[in-house]
Amino acid sequence: MEVFVEEQKVPADLEMDEYDASPSAAKHLLLSIDGAPAATGRFIEYKPDTAKLQRIAVRLPHRGQGVGKALMQALEGWAKDEGFTYALLDAQCQAEPFYRSLGYEKTSPETFLDAGIPHVRMRKRL
Ligand code: COA
Repeated sequence: MEVFVEEQKVPADLEMDEYDASPSAAKHLLLSIDGAPAATGRFIEYKPDTAKLQRIAVRLPHRGQGVGKALMQALEGWAKDEGFTYALLDAQCQAEPFYRSLGYEKTSPETFLDAGIPHVRMRKRL
């Protein structure tokens, strides 16, 4: 809510979805620093061999220090342990270089709008 709704102005009713309904609806990860939440993300099953990573967010004061990379590595390791072969995500275009640095590749050149923000779909073999 802090990053996507307050900072990026995504409407709260778009931000919350069926995977927020219960803690077991998705795999949610919270990364804390000195006991305080610093970053979060989740994944769901997209296809039997593919996990979809979503809601990747690092709180503003913690950005640019490797926290997002650590979060992604933890999510990917967890998805692999759950038996997934691929990680897929819809990247905001401004974050595409971040995901590319982690080994993600665009699955098609087209961009699309989600909550009014341009995105590209990316994928990585775990
Ligand atoms: N452009 C280019 N490279 C970037 C980048 C950007 N916007 N953001 C990060 N990187 C690179 C870093 O330079 C670093 O490269 P290195 O490993 O070669 O040094 C690598 O990506 C990891 O960076 P890191 O410090 O772990 O990233 P972060 O903690 O700042 O997290 C986001 C990145 C995108 C998760 C964070 O900026 C964020 O939460 N943004 C707001 C929410 C958001 O846009 N989420 C993505 C929705 S799809």
